[in-house]
Amino acid sequence: MMRTGRSNSIAAALMTVLIFSLPMASRAATVPQENNSCITCHGGLDDERLSHPVALWTDSVHAKVGNTCDGCHGGDPKDLTLEAMSKSKGFHGVPPQAQVTDVCAKCHSQTAESYKSSAHFQVGQPTCIDCHNPHAIERTAAGIVTAERCSLCHEFTPAEKLKTILTGLSERLQETRQRIAAIRGFPMQSFEQQHTDASTELQNVRRVSHSLDLEKVQEGARNTSKKLRTLTEDIARLENVSQDRRRLGLIAIALFLTLTVITYLYNEQNKKDEGTGD
Ligand code: HEC
Ligand code: HEC
Ligand code: HEC
Ligand code: HEC
Ligand code: HEC
Repeated sequence: MMRTGRSNSIAAALMTVLIFSLPMASRAATVPQENNSCITCHGGLDDERLSHPVALWTDSVHAKVGNTCDGCHGGDPKDLTLEAMSKSKGFHGVPPQAQVTDVCAKCHSQTAESYKSSAHFQVGQPTCIDCHNPHAIERTAAGIVTAERCSLCHEFTPAEKLKTILTGLSERLQETRQRIAAIRGFPMQSFEQQHTDASTELQNVRRVSHSLDLEKVQEGARNTSKKLRTLTEDIARLENVSQDRRRLGLIAIALFLTLTVITYLYNEQNKKDEGTGD
């Protein structure tokens, strides 16, 4: 019994290591992009359907983090021939709609879990790629949520609610970023840390939003909001100190200048007095 228990926990530990190393493995591209056969061959093909994905992908977040074509389509990016796309090299082509979630879940497991609990997954649409163009992945912005896209199957109201929450938090986070950057002459580490914490919390809200569970989203939003409020208050306090310091500095300079002028005038007057004294 003891033995099984231990080997089970070793197996569990190994699984954990495996699961958490997946996105890291994807970051470390196996082939430099300029030698990646998927990119070089497709980039030069005349057929728009085959070459356009390269143009879109080049400007994407996935290109920056090294998720190349094979990350989603499989195949061997070291093989320069059409053999790169053989089944034996793990190529699985264009995923059918029902498999898109699994392709993305390979690296975005938590977001995919959240999505799988949604009505969207239950009805089979919209899938990840109805909302995120698979080749033009951007740092997400709530701009994805539009009346055009989100009122095809239901009212826009719940979608809009989601958008308002996400946009509001995102704007507040950005504002604190700018205010932190504008403060000079103070150690800012603890502020940076608070900003990172709030940012992580917001990333959680974004993840949870895929479940469409508005109550859970609102709960996450409240937590993020609390962190942002504390940070904003701390920033405001430091801004006041910084302003007082600047004001004192200006007063000191003004005093110094006044003294200099007075001394100069006094010396001039003395010179004149000495002149007339002769
Ligand atoms: C030597 C050139 C070449 C290389 C290398 C190559 N491809 Fe292709 N690829 C093509 C051509 C040509 C087609 C169109 C084939 C067809 O329509 O049957 C194609 C088709 C595809 C398709 C669309 C399949 C479909 O069913 O519509 C995908 C996806 C794809 N390639 C991905 C990849 C990936 C990923 C790699 C790297 C592992 C790769 N390709 C390497 C030339 C290449
Ligand atoms: C994030 C995952 C992902 C990456 C990375 C990716 N693709 Fe795709 N690709 C997809 C999905 C999903 C589809 C299916 C799109 C659809 O059904 O509308 C697709 C479709 C395609 C098609 C078929 C287009 C069509 O209209 O028939 C080609 C060709 C293709 N990809 C090539 C590439 C090439 C080349 C790269 C690298 C530059 C690449 N893909 C990178 C996920 C990806
Ligand atoms: C092989 C691994 C891999 C696959 C497969 C993959 N991605 Fe990604 N994706 C990443 C990595 C790594 C990042 C960068 C994460 C980061 O820097 O926070 C990323 C970033 C993103 C982002 C931007 C996240 C943000 O914080 O703004 C979106 C959106 C995204 N991916 C969607 C998708 C979708 C949709 C699919 C499936 C069609 C997919 N990804 C498939 C690895 C992958
Ligand atoms: C109904 C539209 C929709 C669908 C379907 C959807 N997303 Fe998203 N996704 C969004 C929105 C909206 C955001 C948050 C935008 C923001 O506020 O920045 C987002 C954010 C993300 C992010 C960044 C936050 C995070 O979760 O790390 C990733 C990665 C992502 N989506 C991947 C996926 C994947 C993978 C799927 C499928 C399993 C998927 N999305 C399905 C709309 C969608
Ligand atoms: C293909 C159809 C379809 C599209 C397109 C679609 N949805 Fe949905 N959505 C549904 C279904 C079905 C439900 C569950 C039943 C309902 O609430 O109408 C749902 C429910 C929701 C809910 C939960 C509603 C609640 O009151 O709890 C939200 C939030 C939501 N969708 C957001 C979005 C967003 C954001 C978009 C656009 C990016 C979008 N939807 C596009 C089909 C769709």
